[in-house]
Amino acid sequence: MPIYQQAGIIPHKRHIVFRNANGNLYHEELFGTEGFAGTSSLVYHLYPPTMVKDHGKPYSVRPEIAIEDNLQARSYMGYDVEPNADYIQSRKTLFVNDDMTIGMAAPTKSLTEYFFKNADADEMIFVHKGTGVLKTMYGHIDFEYGDYLIIPRGTVYQIHFNDADNKLLIVESFGAIETPERYRNKYGQFLETSPFCERDLKLPKNLETIDEQGDFLIQIKKRGLIYPYVYENHPFDVIGWDGCCYPYGFSILNFEPLTGRIHMPPPIHQTFQGRNFVICSFVPRMYDYHPDAIPAPYHHSNIDSDELLYYVDGDFMSRNNIKKGQITLHPGGLPHGPHPGAIERSIGKKATNELAVMIDPFNPVKITKEAMKYEFEDYYQSWMS
Ligand SMILES: [Fe+2]
Repeated sequence: MPIYQQAGIIPHKRHIVFRNANGNLYHEELFGTEGFAGTSSLVYHLYPPTMVKDHGKPYSVRPEIAIEDNLQARSYMGYDVEPNADYIQSRKTLFVNDDMTIGMAAPTKSLTEYFFKNADADEMIFVHKGTGVLKTMYGHIDFEYGDYLIIPRGTVYQIHFNDADNKLLIVESFGAIETPERYRNKYGQFLETSPFCERDLKLPKNLETIDEQGDFLIQIKKRGLIYPYVYENHPFDVIGWDGCCYPYGFSILNFEPLTGRIHMPPPIHQTFQGRNFVICSFVPRMYDYHPDAIPAPYHHSNIDSDELLYYVDGDFMSRNNIKKGQITLHPGGLPHGPHPGAIERSIGKKATNELAVMIDPFNPVKITKEAMKYEFEDYYQSWMS
């Protein structure tokens, strides 16, 4: 996120002597995800972030693939993903390609017994159900229904939930997850035409410096394996930081929809960009206001992208019999469009309450065995009237 932030105590210049009241040096760490040229933050620890005491045997959480090559419209009940008390075990990957994974989680307990670090991927966690707080060395981010949480890869975190009923849609991206470049000017500031801006972001707050020694278990995910690492110091031992690389939140309910006299194409809903994918937010909005407008989308060929829609709330106007937490997968290579009757039904309507997250992977996704547990049969025939 190219918005400069600063918290806690930092020296007046980077890479210089910086001591505590007892004369001991603080330990500076440059945290970035793209070498020395991408966005980064400078973080000041009480202790070196390198003090590994021990490490255990890695175990695999690599998804098993059921369908390598897919050219069929499919649908899945993402909301039915099994609840699990353990945060890592609760995360179920449903779709995967070389750029990303897409999955769901229904964790029933807060992650407090260990810390998690995804060394592979930036994470986008969409909170469909649940409230709580994301804890990192940068500070805390409170979250609730409708929040996207963006966590740069390598960030050590814990996630606390206020109760046991949580539903998360999770994207792991092997490149950076960013706000769309076309929403920002050459200085990185959001443009007046962007559907959201700096004020809408939930930035890390309440930096807490924890000075504790012991056995701090960080479960590190790398190439689909989880490596248990034990560190000497609490990972949130930060006295101050500044820079442009940190986790943040954004509520889908703060996405201000762009509308027009006739149907506007999906890019107006774009919220994030990644390497070879986009994420869009379909939010409650006024419909097209030309007297003869057709608010339902036209059929489109999407030859160059798969399209996954995750239905959050409201009636989704272009689909019949769609439930909350349901996912549709429309593969690149087949045209798709509204369900029977949806076009006629939409004419003359003034507004919609639909709330959905769309993920368009530009490379085809493989479908996991886990996903197949939740598949609706014969969805591909659902356009037959
Ligand atoms: Fe579409």
